Amino acid sequence: MEKESGNYVSDIHDAAYEAAYLARRLDSGTLVSAVGRPAESLNGKWNFAADWYDSCKRAKWFLERRVDEAGRPMPLDWDWEAWEPMSVPSSWNLQKPELFYFEGSGLYTRTFRYLPKIPGERAFLRFEGAQYRTSVFLNGEHLGTHDGGSTPFSVEATGAIREDNRIIVVVEAGRRPGRVPPDNTDWFNYGGLYRDILLLRMPPRFIKDWFLRLVPDGSFSKLAIDVELSGEGLGAAKGGEARLRIPELGLDESIPISGGRGSSVISLDVAACLELWAPGKPRLYGIELSLLGPGGEGIDALRDRVGFREIRISGSDILVNGKSVFLKGISVHEDHLRLGKATDEATIRAAIAHLKELHGDYLRLAHYPHDGRFARIADEEGVLLWEEVPVYWAVDFSSPATYADAENQLAELVIRDRNRASVAIWSVGNENADSDARLSFMSRLAAKARELDGTRPVSAACLVDHERLAIADRLAEALDIIGINEYYGWYDPDFSKLPRILDNSKPSKPVIICEFGAGARLGHRGSVDEHFTEDMQARLYEEQVAVIGACPYIKGMSPWILYDFRCPRRLNRYQERYNRKGLVDADRVSKKKAFATLAAFYASRAEPAAEGDA
Ligand code: GCU
Repeated sequence: MEKESGNYVSDIHDAAYEAAYLARRLDSGTLVSAVGRPAESLNGKWNFAADWYDSCKRAKWFLERRVDEAGRPMPLDWDWEAWEPMSVPSSWNLQKPELFYFEGSGLYTRTFRYLPKIPGERAFLRFEGAQYRTSVFLNGEHLGTHDGGSTPFSVEATGAIREDNRIIVVVEAGRRPGRVPPDNTDWFNYGGLYRDILLLRMPPRFIKDWFLRLVPDGSFSKLAIDVELSGEGLGAAKGGEARLRIPELGLDESIPISGGRGSSVISLDVAACLELWAPGKPRLYGIELSLLGPGGEGIDALRDRVGFREIRISGSDILVNGKSVFLKGISVHEDHLRLGKATDEATIRAAIAHLKELHGDYLRLAHYPHDGRFARIADEEGVLLWEEVPVYWAVDFSSPATYADAENQLAELVIRDRNRASVAIWSVGNENADSDARLSFMSRLAAKARELDGTRPVSAACLVDHERLAIADRLAEALDIIGINEYYGWYDPDFSKLPRILDNSKPSKPVIICEFGAGARLGHRGSVDEHFTEDMQARLYEEQVAVIGACPYIKGMSPWILYDFRCPRRLNRYQERYNRKGLVDADRVSKKKAFATLAAFYASRAEPAAEGDA
């Protein structure tokens, strides 16, 4: 109604201004794989402004209107080149003191040049991760908007890109009840463009996505591959075929394409003697996937290194390559004193080195998808991973928009990492109260994970039924592995409940204790009964591993947590805005007493050397 009024000004009166941006969603459907392809980085110094009132989107600054209809210059509230530089990727919270607690819209802009290298070349922008709602503008055009703070997204820029380009990206980092995660979490809400940004050059027709894996039927003798091609670019030919080559296995297979998709199951020649990927024995194979035109001409190609292994559930056993395992793990957040959420290779490798010092072979990447390099490095290092979407605590389970967001984040995660041997388990959430809406929401997510990837077990971190003192979450029905978070000896001081709960429970599936722990401030020593002493934390670990280690259906654990991490809701004198349940201080160097306790337990559970071949 107001719109009709003579004094309506959309820049200031349109309360529903976001709807137009949300109409162009970037999601798993628009995601283009960047693996094994040359990519140009758009990382570096961008100009940045904290856009507290989201004015760039409200007032459409990206249109760069400098004059009115009659050509008269207008006063401008934006001024790209005058703004301070901001490193991309980074968490803006750690770049400028005044942005430490900023959860508004960060406005990033830079220029870049682009000249196509081949006829009909298509240009894509790929973002590896931005917290939370990201709108991308190129040369005055809104390319699309993405929701989700930890998964990759991409957008085609072919139509808007020029020789000289101005890109503007608005990242709005707000915590909201309807988001995934919702507004209340137990970690720090870092904002911004905190992962790589790439410019991808693609031929008119290209391999958009692919999924290669061992067929998990216990025979270790068949590979399956699915290939999805890009939508038909201008002038792109139809039909054709894809080819999979794995030189070390003497494999060179044709994959017929129809309707932009191709699938094939390939029986391995026994003589090929496939070496399986296994924890501690990370055998990877170089693969080449190419797309040939109707005349057999090469029109697209990519390379990768892939490991082949099988993860299967049998009764209450988790079988890795047919052998029952106990997953010796620890949980870790993407949180760093200096880097915030913008991790790097050295930081990832250091976490894996700490895991190995613990004699562990498994990491729970909590509570959201971590940087894509983590699974790549874990592939090389022979470490298994639990990967999770942030369906955390009080998610709005009755909201279709929230479900769509959660499902999309799951799809983006699975599409990004399903070719990674290290990724063992998909988790659809953490510590949610058992309600009908939640049961349906998370059961649908579990089904979605299986639809996208039928080769990995699905789990979730569930809570114990405190009344019945039993593992009795209804969601277990929809899961392959039951994850349990329990804090007996800490939040519930009565540790004796844990053995009773495990006795009371008769799960028909493997259970992983994906969290237990106690807070301890580094250097605070004292009685084993005093909270926040290293001594109490170590004693709690002794008690926990003794009970967990003796329970036949528990097939793994990932105590909370490897490193202390920032958390605005932890305010006592030992915490000082950190969750102090780490076995290592937030400096990621100084170990607490319990580190050795866990290392000793894992050393005592060392598996005999992994089988190399089937
Ligand atoms: C929960 C939760 C974690 C949290 C931990 C804690 O279990 O999953 O995110 O940090 O407990 O209380 O320390």
